[in-house]
Amino acid sequence: MHRNYVLAILIFCLMILCVACTDTETVKPEALKQYESDKNETVELTQVSLIQNDFIVYFVNCAAGKVTEADAGDIMGLYQSVTDQRYGEDSGTGMLWGYQEKSYMAADGDLNSLNKLDTKWVIKEGTDIIPEETGFYYDFSVPPGEYEVICGFYDPFSARPVSVRAEDEQVIVDQKILKYKLTQTSFLQQVSDGVLNLLIYNPSSGDEVMKDPVLSYIIIRAVPDYDEGLLSNLIDTASFDDTELEEYTTASKERYQTAYREAKITLRKADPSRQDYKNSYLKLKEVYDTMIKKPYYTTFRPGQVWKDTEDNLIQAHGGQVQRLTVKEKHTGKMVEKWWWVGEDKTQGCRGGICAYSSDDLYNWTFEGVVMRNVSSRKQLEEEEYFKKLYADYTSEQLDKVYTCINDSTSIIERPKMIYCKETGQYVIWFHADGPTKSNHSNYAAASAGVAVSDTPYGPFRFINRYRLNTCPEDQEDKYPKSKGMARDMNLFVDDDGTAYIIYSSEENLTLYISKLNFSYTYLAADPKEAVYGVDFIRIFPGAQREAPAVFKRNGKYYMMTSGCTGWAPNPAKMFMSDSMLGTWVDKGDPCIDDTKRTTFDSQSTCIFLADEEKKIYVYMGDRWNNENLADSRYLWLPLNFDEEGNASLTYTNEWKLP
Ligand code: DGJ
Repeated sequence: MHRNYVLAILIFCLMILCVACTDTETVKPEALKQYESDKNETVELTQVSLIQNDFIVYFVNCAAGKVTEADAGDIMGLYQSVTDQRYGEDSGTGMLWGYQEKSYMAADGDLNSLNKLDTKWVIKEGTDIIPEETGFYYDFSVPPGEYEVICGFYDPFSARPVSVRAEDEQVIVDQKILKYKLTQTSFLQQVSDGVLNLLIYNPSSGDEVMKDPVLSYIIIRAVPDYDEGLLSNLIDTASFDDTELEEYTTASKERYQTAYREAKITLRKADPSRQDYKNSYLKLKEVYDTMIKKPYYTTFRPGQVWKDTEDNLIQAHGGQVQRLTVKEKHTGKMVEKWWWVGEDKTQGCRGGICAYSSDDLYNWTFEGVVMRNVSSRKQLEEEEYFKKLYADYTSEQLDKVYTCINDSTSIIERPKMIYCKETGQYVIWFHADGPTKSNHSNYAAASAGVAVSDTPYGPFRFINRYRLNTCPEDQEDKYPKSKGMARDMNLFVDDDGTAYIIYSSEENLTLYISKLNFSYTYLAADPKEAVYGVDFIRIFPGAQREAPAVFKRNGKYYMMTSGCTGWAPNPAKMFMSDSMLGTWVDKGDPCIDDTKRTTFDSQSTCIFLADEEKKIYVYMGDRWNNENLADSRYLWLPLNFDEEGNASLTYTNEWKLP
């Protein structure tokens, strides 16, 4: 026992008495319930403070000096006011604790960092090591009882073993620390004399510096006695009212409600065991500590992480936003919503189509994968979702569905949704690609896919994928060996209800605009009969444009496009016309001060009217992350227009609608 023991106990008792005076809750855990000082005084800790502190009585960020706070994710111990100190009285708590200073100890790392992995104790070079003795000695005043001791080692230099002695017993023998990795070791320790003594050392170290002990942090947690009182206290501490709970993601809320309910059931049980209390306690505590609040945005932050209201990255790449009147799922009421559809990239380059809804354009609620892709042909006939959706499809049609929207070979990109008043259906067109029988490339099919649903929530039923119009014979086809190709695409519905599909064709060398039929589910005229200038046009043959985004403003039609450089960004180009099938004029790059000439590191996908009154058009671009497509970012910027109606785009880090 340490010779300062008596002083430690006295200070400890005083502190505990103070706590007891201000809060009458008493602690039940055996180890902390009662502590008899040498004056025979009874002291008690509050369960509430212990619960709130996760029973951590000390957290030592070794060698960090007198830092008064712990890093995010760590908790300062109840008995300390600094993260490390030489053995002595803690000036904030009065407790006696700390390391015994040895001449061979050296502090290593960024000594002002809060991160417990950034600093550590090491042994000074040239130290004469006494393997059984040379190490780091720490003493902590604690009430008698059981403690969990956690020692952390982060050694960026070399692997080595470390051992731990506690209360003069070797408790950890040759724990292997791995190079560049965090190694944690923990053990339970009974303390009966009021001071927990630790020695962290390496009995097998010798002349080799690389084998000297190191130590990054120590955490000491009281082991609570899980009983009725403790669980009740946690239930009281970890409670929310209904409004508060609504601020958390549905997943967090549901996990919490389950754990809370289970904890209440345990309390009501006729004769719950300690294990029952413990299980319920640990579950509720874990759930409570990991609750995630719904993100809430009040601005657009181009290129920054953008999450939905469930805290998941928004998966609506290559997408489109529009204003819709929809039947709200939970109320059945018809409401106006912003609706965003786009590619789900959570599985990489192959995925279905997601939808999100919003009231303010900043905060988006996930409405589901509205067109799912399929894992096997069998799934189409066996899984209820697909069985119902494709109930009247022939086997041949199902084969086609499988070929076009399977999750192993098909590509589903740039989905765009329009509502057809004639049929009352929502129609999604998308770039439907994948290998063909004769060509194994991912982009060989080069087709346009179409799917329909009675609601924007889906499920969308895939109809077919098609090659579209071809170059008239009296014009120069830029890619005659493959006719009717359709890749990057968009849709536009004009004021008279005529819908158009705008897409890259002729191996992405030429953009086409083709009219759709009355139901928006196919071309207005079959490619064999289509009349150039009436049913379709080609724009700038050989100009190699993709990612078209079309909108109409003051009677003029605009089309923003990108060049064709895979996932890498390139300079944009704006075209203008007096009609959809009219003459499109090249207006050049609309981006101002885009020094890298990369459309501010993005590729166009849609331009929509965000504020009808103030006439605010928003450019939506994708900043693709080829390494991790799901983590591709969105870049939304307001467009500017001059007096002649020329559009331009300037970059800003953050903005909001006026
Ligand atoms: C560029 C297109 O715009 C994207 O949609 C995607 O097809 C990539 N090319 C693939 O490289």
